[in-house]
Amino acid sequence: TANYNDFYNYESSVRFIRKNKPPFVIKVDGLASGKGVIICNSIKESEKTIEDIFINNKFGKAGKSILIEEFLEGYEISYFAFFDKNDFLPFGYALDHKRAKNYDKGLNTGGMGAFSPSKKVTAKMENSIIRSIVEPTKKALAKDKIIYRGIIFFGLMITKDGPKVIEYNTRFGDPECQVLMRLCESDILELLYATSDDKLDKKKVVISNEYCICVILASIGYPEKYKNNIKIKDLEKKDIKEKIHIFHSGTIKKKESIYSNGGRVLSITSKNISFDKARSDAYETLKEIDWINGFYRDDIGIKNYE
Ligand code: GLY
Repeated sequence: TANYNDFYNYESSVRFIRKNKPPFVIKVDGLASGKGVIICNSIKESEKTIEDIFINNKFGKAGKSILIEEFLEGYEISYFAFFDKNDFLPFGYALDHKRAKNYDKGLNTGGMGAFSPSKKVTAKMENSIIRSIVEPTKKALAKDKIIYRGIIFFGLMITKDGPKVIEYNTRFGDPECQVLMRLCESDILELLYATSDDKLDKKKVVISNEYCICVILASIGYPEKYKNNIKIKDLEKKDIKEKIHIFHSGTIKKKESIYSNGGRVLSITSKNISFDKARSDAYETLKEIDWINGFYRDDIGIKNYE
């Protein structure tokens, strides 16, 4: 992982920032709905973030302690593996887009879109992830006598020195999960059942050789304040293209009509034998959705596909 230090108050955090060189990655310790990681490019920005955490209490209890990490350069991938008592089974990966606006501008979000596969993630790279991260994680769990049955989401930065762990999550990612579910050709329930039953050694994961992209349609204002209860006109009547699935992330049905009910509202997923076609179909579908309160990124799948 990256080099880091932990801090419990404003003074020591600011002292550290002033003695070191930005950019810094500041992480609050508690749960923060995917918004607890702040990348600060200057000392001033870092000081303001630390003030928000320790003085203005922006994150409440989640911000009682923080990590300040070195900023790793590279590109991020979300890598997934099932774990049972004895074994693990790699499941696949997707590349998420965390910032709210095009070309990685704007605030960090839970994820505005994802795709898989990428030409950058070669079989050699996947082997290196398994050897240097997944296997050691399994060994460390065993050493600490932790029996973990479920999915592990390795948030990785692929740097010039190889893959590094940014975070572990004990869940699927959103929107990575939407992409993986569309690409998974194995019976997901059987995989989950084998995970709970310590039978992963008997299972294989079959992943489609097609391409999948997911673009999130979000409420204007997300990840900060946004309005709910705005009607998405005639969504239920739309003739959706074959190979497009729309997952409802934050909607509510009232009298047969669909209304928004969350920051991330619809996940438009498109699968195709051609990456470009998957991408263009997703965006064509988005253009057909009649919703005045929505925004999405236009650049999902542009960076880091090749
Ligand atoms: N998309 C990132 C996450 O689910 O944490």
